[in-house]
Amino acid sequence: MNKKQTRFFAFAASGVAALAFIGMTLHSHTRFGELTNAQNITPAVVHGKDVWHKYNCINCHTLFGEGAYYAPDLTKITQHRGAAYLQAYMRDPSKFYDENRHRRLMPKQDLSEQEITDLILFLDWVSKVDNQNWPPRPILVVGASIPGSDFSAQQQTANAIQGGAQPPGARPVNPDLNPIALGQALFRKVAPACVACHSVADGVNMAGPSLAGIGARAKERIAAAEYTGQAKDAAAYIRESIEKPSAYVVPGAMYSANGQSFMPTTYAKDLKPEQIEQLVAYLSSLE
Ligand code: HEC
Ligand code: HEC
Repeated sequence: MNKKQTRFFAFAASGVAALAFIGMTLHSHTRFGELTNAQNITPAVVHGKDVWHKYNCINCHTLFGEGAYYAPDLTKITQHRGAAYLQAYMRDPSKFYDENRHRRLMPKQDLSEQEITDLILFLDWVSKVDNQNWPPRPILVVGASIPGSDFSAQQQTANAIQGGAQPPGARPVNPDLNPIALGQALFRKVAPACVACHSVADGVNMAGPSLAGIGARAKERIAAAEYTGQAKDAAAYIRESIEKPSAYVVPGAMYSANGQSFMPTTYAKDLKPEQIEQLVAYLSSLE
């Protein structure tokens, strides 16, 4: 190429790139409303956003990865933790995690009930923005009350979510698609994912209690005097825990309020009966 051709090439290439850039920018602008579900931005959602700014949640947290990296990203938090859990958590975070074990805590901010409700509506709106499924796997508070090292619990959860972990105590799983193997896969895949709140490692209590040994513990639960549910055997207890979490609530201030479990109550309607049976088969195998 001579000098003239080089110059022409430089201008033409810049021109094409600029046109493509302008075109894509304009295209994005026409789609913002649709991608952000603009029709769902109610006055309560807007108020929730103001509360978010008023209390500087962004000083510690991120939304869409933007903000400070002290505390977990909250982009999808309402899809992993139900509203009941978040409501109780925001009233008093210190009830949920132990500073000695977890080393960092969220301050109690004395939010009003209205502020909490609208904040959750705002976070729920955020969780439904179409951002191409970012983040690819949940960014959650894990290892809340683990005896011993935080690291191993975090590793366990990361492995479980990525599908690598074989839970301790599980019977060997037939590689053919038997109900136990299907249940184990569902434990990660259903929405909200069971692994977001439950570990199957011994003693690792997250937003929900560890399910290590639940197959055996279920029998003790229904035999105990304080049992309030209807189940007559271990499988029925596990099924009841999934379909009607509040039929019996596991003791612990961070698991329930006024007898209402913080576990989502949506599984009975969202899962097919055979999926629930597969989860029951998997959990019953943890002895
Ligand atoms: C000073 C830092 C700080 C501020 C400010 C803060 N948080 Fe947090 N938040 C944390 C930390 C740290 C955690 C992780 C859990 C823990 O160790 O207590 C957390 C966890 C959370 C969780 C997840 C709980 C779970 O179990 O998954 C939610 C939801 C949350 N914060 C919401 C908020 C909201 C809403 C605000 C603003 C009103 C806020 N946070 C302000 C530090 C903060
Ligand atoms: C948002 C957090 C959360 C999610 C998601 C969740 N759980 Fe729970 N789960 C809890 C809490 C909190 C408890 C303890 C209170 C109670 O008894 O309901 C619990 C209790 C249980 C129990 C009884 C445990 C015992 O020791 O008796 C079982 C079984 C269970 N969950 C299974 C599941 C399964 C299966 C899924 C997925 C389909 C799931 N959970 C999803 C929070 C959650």
